[in-house]
Amino acid sequence: MSSYIIEGGKKLEGKTYVSGSKNASLPIIAATILNQGISKLYNVPRIHDTQMMIEILKKLGCKVKCNKNKVVVDSSNVNNYEIPERLMREMRSSVILAGSIVGRYKKAIFSYPGGCDIGVRPIDLHIKGFEKLGINVQESFGKIICLVDEIKGTEINLDFPSVGATENIILASVLGNGKTIIRNAAMEPEIEDLQNFLNRMGARVEGAGTKTIIINGVHKLKDVSYNIMPDRIETGTLLCAAAVTGGKIVLERANSEHIKPVIDKLEEAGCKIEIERDFIILDAPKKLKAVDINTMPYPGFPTDMQSIFGAILCTATGTSIITENIFESRFKYSGELQRMGAKIIIKDKSLIIKGVRKLYGTKVKATDLRGGAALIVAALKAKGKTEIEDIKYILRGYEKIEKKLIDLGGNIKVLIN
Ligand code: UD1
Repeated sequence: MSSYIIEGGKKLEGKTYVSGSKNASLPIIAATILNQGISKLYNVPRIHDTQMMIEILKKLGCKVKCNKNKVVVDSSNVNNYEIPERLMREMRSSVILAGSIVGRYKKAIFSYPGGCDIGVRPIDLHIKGFEKLGINVQESFGKIICLVDEIKGTEINLDFPSVGATENIILASVLGNGKTIIRNAAMEPEIEDLQNFLNRMGARVEGAGTKTIIINGVHKLKDVSYNIMPDRIETGTLLCAAAVTGGKIVLERANSEHIKPVIDKLEEAGCKIEIERDFIILDAPKKLKAVDINTMPYPGFPTDMQSIFGAILCTATGTSIITENIFESRFKYSGELQRMGAKIIIKDKSLIIKGVRKLYGTKVKATDLRGGAALIVAALKAKGKTEIEDIKYILRGYEKIEKKLIDLGGNIKVLIN
């Protein structure tokens, strides 16, 4: 398994860019199945998770061509409606395909999804939503079988604004009959990107980005070209990496509107931030100040940035409290940070981080995607050399992260074991 070797202590300076969004690409790639035609996607990040999604599409009978960040899907001849269990286990977002497959074929077979180990991640809200649409959902020998004659528009009130459940219900309803209304929908920008893609393909979806989404079923879709939005979590990660090293960077192809709470917290911690049309300039102080963070569904502070912010607060002046309200077990990375000298106590849903003068390089392990990114950020600040093992988790979600950090002056190498 490969590792990163990072020599800390260098200020990040200069310019880099943000890649296309992982969490927008995954449901949009899944949505191409709905169309009996050609979808051209641009700005798709070449990372493990998008490659896995493409792999599943091919298994279902799609023809897919990839060239750098362009992906062309021809889904006219999809001939399979079962998602292979091995690929399903590779990542949780594969569950999003269920909505598209059942939407197009009126049947779908899949198993429980895998993904990062960040606590219990049930799919009950997805299933309840499907059942409301008239889909019969049965479980047999670990497989989930969805069958329906006709998907009928209805009203669905989500118990919790789950991103995946909102997307799955939209996807299942696009080719349904009549109007579906989702209340208490997730408001994440990736859902708006999915809506924009679907509408460009001929669907009639409105309200994404608000708590109420309305889908008017259509009978047919058409060929489409679409440019995926920038990744807001990568944006936040690169800003944090520069902030912790006391650097100054320009981040191009970024959408600051999507990461307002992250920008607010970086400013509260002492960074100067200037926002231009599609780039962000961050100028960090020598030492950050402690801040408190509460993760919330969008537009609150994103849970995906929690560990990365946790890493930068380890050497801030004062004590910070981070409260995780979305996922259980999302503090595994804190044990690794403690090995680097961080002073952290876990209390119920919160981390209490007492800022220390220095972190020290050592051998640590990525435990999940964002926890792994947190270790990169900590290693960039630490004195000496850090080896981060199991970087496969990081490669699931960050495109060319080491190249971007090297461009900014970071000292990072990949060690292939
Ligand atoms: C998506 C993102 C992930 C992000 C998360 C929250 C993608 C590919 N992933 O994940 O990066 O961290 O949103 O912003 O877009 N829940 C249930 N039952 C369900 C579904 C969810 O109880 O049927 C719970 C989950 O266990 C979790 C919470 O709801 O505690 C949020 O999950 P959800 O919004 O669904 O996250 P994902 O779509 O999995």
